[in-house]
Amino acid sequence: MAYSEKVMDHFANPRNVGELTDADGVGEVGNSKCGDIMKMYIKVKDDIITDVSFKTFGCGAAIATSSMATELVKGKSIHDALKLTNKAVMEALDGLPPVKVHCSVLAEQAIKAALSDYYTRQGIDPVPIVGKINEVECHLED
Ligand code: FES
Repeated sequence: MAYSEKVMDHFANPRNVGELTDADGVGEVGNSKCGDIMKMYIKVKDDIITDVSFKTFGCGAAIATSSMATELVKGKSIHDALKLTNKAVMEALDGLPPVKVHCSVLAEQAIKAALSDYYTRQGIDPVPIVGKINEVECHLED
């Protein structure tokens, strides 16, 4: 399966790239097998994600899914952002090849990790709200 036009677009022109120096939450997740790392930054005001950015050291699909994930949560409430699934990210990108599905899971987890950090900074235990951020299973072909 080839990459969709949307994947190619978000890979070639990723949205919201960089670092937010005054972020309210920062989350980093990685995949031990492929070695890819995704870092998300969020700014929150009155429970709304007013700004979001990412830095991804990874494959093209990881960059495209990070970019799309930031677009999907920008301007949303933190409660809506918590509901973001890797499936929604993939659908918004018109699909991914099966071997690249784990890259979208990394994007979902990176958003959750940033939200988790946000709650921690507010003095709130994130685990009952966000759950545990797991290391993503990789399904790379040999
Ligand atoms: Fe590891 Fe895409 S995130 S290959």
